[in-house]
Amino acid sequence: MSEQAIKTILITGGAGFIGSNFIPYFLAKYPDYRVVNLDNLTYAGNMENLKEIADSPRHIFIRGDICDRPLLKDIFMRYEIKGVIHFAAESHVDNSIEKPDIFIHTNIVGTFNLIEAARNYWFNNGYEESRFHHISTDEVYGSLGKEGLFSESSPYAPNSPYSASKASSDMIVRSYFHTYKLNAIITNCSNNYGAKQHQEKLMPTIIRSALSNKPIPIYGDGKNIRDWLYVTDHCEGIDLAFHKAQAGETYNIGGKNEKENLEIAIKICELLDISRPKSSGSYKDQISFVKDRAGHDRRYAIDATKIKTKLGWKAKETFESGMIKTVKWYLEKRFI
Ligand SMILES: NC(=O)c1ccc[n+]([C@@H]2O[C@H](COP(=O)([O-])OP(=O)(O)OC[C@H]3O[C@@H](n4cnc5c(N)ncnc54)[C@H](O)[C@@H]3O)[C@@H](O)[C@H]2O)c1
Repeated sequence: MSEQAIKTILITGGAGFIGSNFIPYFLAKYPDYRVVNLDNLTYAGNMENLKEIADSPRHIFIRGDICDRPLLKDIFMRYEIKGVIHFAAESHVDNSIEKPDIFIHTNIVGTFNLIEAARNYWFNNGYEESRFHHISTDEVYGSLGKEGLFSESSPYAPNSPYSASKASSDMIVRSYFHTYKLNAIITNCSNNYGAKQHQEKLMPTIIRSALSNKPIPIYGDGKNIRDWLYVTDHCEGIDLAFHKAQAGETYNIGGKNEKENLEIAIKICELLDISRPKSSGSYKDQISFVKDRAGHDRRYAIDATKIKTKLGWKAKETFESGMIKTVKWYLEKRFI
């Protein structure tokens, strides 16, 4: 393929959980794309996650910060960036409760700097053919009661500094479409799970605690509900939206897999009991309830009708198949 035919997109946060699942998938699917991966390798970024594409000439890794304006300007110009998929963020709710500052800086100021760099560059370089895809979360909608689902028209009601920072960044992106007609879209996804997730998150914490014979910590009464989606299904939704969504649109992506945290812990323990049985008893015996997270949202659940009907997206993994793959991956990685 000639250099001319290759399109270059900028992916931010590509050494993190979702980004590092997305980039190998994207490069394998699209031989006519090259990816510049901008990640400043916070504690959450890991080059190990990118091992499978370490030798790819179509993956250019740059260690740098999305808040660094001169760097962003240089990247857009040097690589003639045609599109952006923006994953980079501080992503852990517990950390945002302890130390909100960095969430405001990275998630809000960083997104602003990035979209402003995109606008400035594309103003003279293919404004209409460009694409700015902002990756966001269902947490912007706040908490649900027992009934109902979040749709694209649900009001924003973020409850944690993390979700407030993501909601703010969504609003910035929205405003760039309305004010500047920038070709921007947003996808809001439910909780992801699968390979390469940072060990601070729920499922890796459960697996690690179980295998190291420690109490498996479950917040409050364990009945908080999240709508779980296997990470590669999210990647396919992002791919579809990036290529097909109309400018200014938002899409919710979710797996219709509502599970209480306690159910997740029990499921993982059951899978571990089969694949790595203890000498006596079940891993379930290690489940231990701990003080609830401050402001812990009770329930999230996504209505993904729009992306299904308009873009033909469908989750491939069931909760059962996704959980089996996830536990297998952590066991093979000798996670503890
Ligand atoms: N994990 C989920 O369940 C989930 C669900 C919905 C939406 N999201 C969103 O998807 C995106 C990716 O989530 P994730 O779980 O992969 O997060 P992650 O924490 O695993 O990875 C984030 C990555 O961003 C990088 N990063 C952080 N600050 C940066 C900065 N200032 N400059 C450059 N890089 C920086 C980190 O080094 C890391 O590699 C986030 O925007 C998150 O809000 C995540």
